[in-house]
Amino acid sequence: TRPLKVALLGCGVVGSEVARIMTTHADDLAARIGAPVELAGVAVRRPDKVREGIDPSLVTTDATALVKRGDIDVVVEVIGGIEPARTLITTAFEHGASVVSANKALLAQDGAALHAAADENGKDLYYEAAVAGAIPLIRPLRESLAGDKVNRVLGIVNGTTNFILDKMDSTGAGYQEALDEATALGYAEADPTADVEGFDAAAKAAILAGIAFHTRVRLDDVYREGMTEVTAADFASAKEMGCTIKLLAICERAADGASVTARVHPAMIPLSHPLASVRGAYNAVFVESDAAGQLMFYGPGAGGSPTASAVLGDLVAVCRNRLSGATGPGESAYAALPVSPMGDVVTRY
Ligand code: NDP
Ligand code: HSE
Repeated sequence: TRPLKVALLGCGVVGSEVARIMTTHADDLAARIGAPVELAGVAVRRPDKVREGIDPSLVTTDATALVKRGDIDVVVEVIGGIEPARTLITTAFEHGASVVSANKALLAQDGAALHAAADENGKDLYYEAAVAGAIPLIRPLRESLAGDKVNRVLGIVNGTTNFILDKMDSTGAGYQEALDEATALGYAEADPTADVEGFDAAAKAAILAGIAFHTRVRLDDVYREGMTEVTAADFASAKEMGCTIKLLAICERAADGASVTARVHPAMIPLSHPLASVRGAYNAVFVESDAAGQLMFYGPGAGGSPTASAVLGDLVAVCRNRLSGATGPGESAYAALPVSPMGDVVTRY
């Protein structure tokens, strides 16, 4: 069988781990897919940077030429941000490739248009890594729970802010010191304002709500408060009440089923609640549905290797589709529920 060709757009925290795992797990990947997977090009901004394990002849600064080559089976987009990522993804579809992306900011803004571009060209768009790092969440919501009715998705979906809040609470570390450490560990976004002001969690809430409730939710629909105002005094007050503070994303279907809400804000969590025990850059998400009841998804929510695990899972799925001629699930079917930023649903922990 001919090798499947992969173009890697971005070789930073996540991309370098994707490339490493593609090399170290090459035999297993080939066995699971049914064909070898070959890294055909790596687009970066700084071509002269030394990149361990990457053949320098594959490195290019011309990402557009790479996605236009016409022989690429799968484009893995781990550049981040809106442009050039958006244009590169649509160009990839037009030139015959399917796409795996970890770009929640882009998907929360333009997910509908990107899905439409994938559908028009008969290609796949997968993005398990965009929400909660290594934790399988998109696929369970989209596929495993497709026959159930999800009413609520609630949890910690940003590793950087959980790392900072955990450090502030457990060691008394200062905000900036904890943020610097999260950045050094590869958890934070290129601009960490996205993390600490709640934009990243809001983007993830938009993606989760859209898939869980089969409607269109965009970043702008999500009520958002970050965690920069949380102080040591707030933690002391929380402790007196037997609580801690976490940044939560909460997506709910209104009781009458007529609308959905999505919001991100710091919240007091009783120490007895499982979310209070989520440490470091781990994430935890509760999903509540009619038939299943309550499900909890927990694990590493940020960092190169955990995120690459989710990217590689998508890569295997897309490559299998490529060989079988199938395409994976597209965008959820729409109930076109109105989205209100703050509903009248009372949140229970
Ligand atoms: P990095 O900043 O570490 O890496 C970005 C990569 O993109 C770099 O290799 C950079 O090149 C390259 N790049 C930037 N601009 C361009 C351009 N115009 N053309 C070609 N290449 C370019 O980011 P991360 O790896 O942390 O994140 C990547 C994506 O994954 C983002 O969407 C992020 O939100 C998402 N993500 C990140 C997680 C994490 O824990 N870090 C977890 C889940 C998702 P160069 O190396 O030359 O600078
Ligand atoms: N900056 C993000 C976080 C990366 O800290 O959760 C994972 O999406």
